Amino acid sequence: MKHLLPLSCLVSVALFGACDGNLSSSTNGDPSQPNTGEDMPISGNPDMDTPGSGKDMQDPSGTPDMITYPASDCGVTAMYNKLEPTCATCHRGGNTPYFASADAFYNLIVTSPLWVTPGDPQNSPLIALLKGEATGTYTQMPLGADTFEDLENQGNTDTTIEEISTFITELDGCNRTQPDATVNAPIERKRARQIVNTLYQHLGLTKDDVLAFTKSRNYNDSVYPIYNPDDVKPVTNDPHISPHTQSPGIRWYAIGGGSRLYGTKSNTIFSPTFGQAITQVSQAWCGFSIKKDGNLALFKHVSKDSLLSSTDAQIRDNIKYLMLRFWGHVATDEEIDAMKTNVFDSYISPDESTEAEHRTAWTAVCATLIRDPMWLSY
Ligand code: HEC
Repeated sequence: MKHLLPLSCLVSVALFGACDGNLSSSTNGDPSQPNTGEDMPISGNPDMDTPGSGKDMQDPSGTPDMITYPASDCGVTAMYNKLEPTCATCHRGGNTPYFASADAFYNLIVTSPLWVTPGDPQNSPLIALLKGEATGTYTQMPLGADTFEDLENQGNTDTTIEEISTFITELDGCNRTQPDATVNAPIERKRARQIVNTLYQHLGLTKDDVLAFTKSRNYNDSVYPIYNPDDVKPVTNDPHISPHTQSPGIRWYAIGGGSRLYGTKSNTIFSPTFGQAITQVSQAWCGFSIKKDGNLALFKHVSKDSLLSSTDAQIRDNIKYLMLRFWGHVATDEEIDAMKTNVFDSYISPDESTEAEHRTAWTAVCATLIRDPMWLSY
């Protein structure tokens, strides 16, 4: 049997998972406190969906390939993995992203009094839904001709109602450890505007510098400056610029910059176009930063005028300084070693190095720091 709810109520179910008493609340749920969804973070981290994510939590002495789940997981990830093939096609996103990840399943279904009463499968509407006996908006899940029970009888599910009932029974008294907030912290790429502004700041450059160096290198004078075509005063003299198809707006566009004027949307995707643009720009602009007279943005512990005379200790100190400047991160000795060996040293001839080699090596260190997720994201 199917209840038809008023539209406002349907919307409330879809968005907040609660609707004035139409969905029987569980015995331990407080009906006066509809679930607002506020405390239901949805983890979008794809790594957390996979069975392999359990590896991080297991005893390091265990067999590396064997996937085990800590007792504190309360069987949630395992149950998620078994239901996912039947449910996720419709519930990976949208208004009811119950199966976007194991954490979404946990936050939106397992801990929701609307669907699950820990310790009491009889009073868990989820079970009724799977049997096609639910009394809410939908009588069964999945939608379609067959109920979950039918599919189970046909051998077309990865778990059984009995197993799900046991899972619910064992939830009673089990405290699932909430995932580490730092692991699930949302990471966002810097926007185009942030990238351009931060580059100028970190490298000690101005638009005019970039334009001047670009000209002196005899590049197409609109390739390296990056500007938002909506800005009042473009750095180019060409009045006929059509951004995102012509430079210099093309680089703005490549790094995800949008334009109201030209109707292009901004984005923060790590696309191949973005990767290519940031690689070229970081190398060129780091070079400009070093070339600019009197600009000491990249050099605190080595002498810019005689890089060749730097001691190993000074080079290491300067790498540490740059990691702090670019990443806001106090580097460990290992991180400094890795940067020096893998990047810096590979530009330096072992026997007789030159000033030019040192400049190139610092350019490479600088560009490496910029291309790193530590710099590109926040
Ligand atoms: C063929 C698509 C489809 C599949 C497969 C599916 N669902 Fe749904 N489900 C829906 C739709 C559509 C809704 C209505 C809400 C919405 O638009 O997302 C819904 C709603 C729900 C609701 C809320 C019901 C209510 O009355 O508010 C739950 C809980 C649910 N699904 C669980 C499941 C589970 C568990 C599975 C797997 C056993 C599953 N669904 C499989 C399409 C599907």
